Amino acid sequence: MSKILDIEKIREDFPILKRTIEGKPLIYLDSAATSQTPRCVVEAIEKMYFETKANVHRGVHTLSQEATDKVEAAREHVRRYINASSIEEVIFTRGTTEAINLAASSLGDSFCNGDEIILSVMEHHANIIPWQLLQRRRRINLKVIPMNDRGELLLDEYEKLFSDNTRMVAIAHVSNVLGTVNPVKEMVAIAHKHGVPVLVDGAQAAPHMKIDVRDIDADFYAFSSHKMYGPTGVGVLYGKKKLLEVLPPYQGGGEMIKHVSFEKTTFADLPFKFEAGTPDYVDIAAFDTALSYIESIDIREIEAHEQYLCDMATRLLNEIPGMRIFGNAPHKSGVVSFLVGDIHHYDMGLLLDKLGIAVRTGHHCAQPLMTACGVEGMVRASFALYNTEEEVQHFVEAVARVAKMF
Ligand code: ALA
Repeated sequence: MSKILDIEKIREDFPILKRTIEGKPLIYLDSAATSQTPRCVVEAIEKMYFETKANVHRGVHTLSQEATDKVEAAREHVRRYINASSIEEVIFTRGTTEAINLAASSLGDSFCNGDEIILSVMEHHANIIPWQLLQRRRRINLKVIPMNDRGELLLDEYEKLFSDNTRMVAIAHVSNVLGTVNPVKEMVAIAHKHGVPVLVDGAQAAPHMKIDVRDIDADFYAFSSHKMYGPTGVGVLYGKKKLLEVLPPYQGGGEMIKHVSFEKTTFADLPFKFEAGTPDYVDIAAFDTALSYIESIDIREIEAHEQYLCDMATRLLNEIPGMRIFGNAPHKSGVVSFLVGDIHHYDMGLLLDKLGIAVRTGHHCAQPLMTACGVEGMVRASFALYNTEEEVQHFVEAVARVAKMF
């Protein structure tokens, strides 16, 4: 029995977990797609709408000052949370996808035809397509780090991909499909040895483990609030100040300028140069509450709990005849992706839903990885701090039941 967290108490914070689906208690195993939201975060949103809604960085009036203070308090909290050096390095975006698009688009201005970018075979589309879009502006080449059968990146092959033309490395901290925790600190050190900056897609890492951008020495690090028990519509791009300072803005609009004339416009200082237009200030403020919620429990305990559930699910699923689990790296975060015999992933997902169990099915926005695994799609169960051993037990029994139906 896991005694790491007081799960019953935690579950009280998430009203949605009391829902039933098809008359069965909901078992939510899709937190890697989006986590559920505790009451305190929803209350923070409601309170801001009812008491402090005003545009930020724009007004001298009290409401605007208060709203601005909340957004800037959230920025400072994010800085602390990821151990960035300064708030100038914390840019709010709509999510990880926008954060990576921002970095790729702004960095791309200085790329030349023939430049190379190193990605890995297990990237989410959000860390592939922004670089491919750059190929419309520059004839750059993408090079891909392969993996072994356990789903670990091959570091020897990675080293061999560097050339005099390498301009960037962009890698996932944790695979959204395989759960592999990539050795990003080591990979950043290798890239830096070649004088190449690294962007780390932390969407699947930030909800589950302590993130220290200075320890990793990442040049850019991207993640989303909605996977961290926070509101939708908020993401973060961390970037080293000296790199952000020389990058051009991503979007133009209000609040990212110092002075505008039709002849010449000058841009605001960091981080505002990259935050054009009205930000999602209500949700940014509520993200502050979500980070406090995680801290009230302790991310290391959350990680241990999820690890326990993931190990348990893997062990029990492996007892089902025909089970194929994708991603068996020794250092893995809380997701299990699988197929049983030749049962289609959608069929498995639909039948599990009838039993009240929410899992993700399909290619998981990682089609190149599906190709590397020789499949079109998989079923994925992902775990969060509110999941229980009983839920894992029910889930495995349900998978076994569906398997017997075919
Ligand atoms: N990137 C999210 C997932 O893996 C949506 O499900």
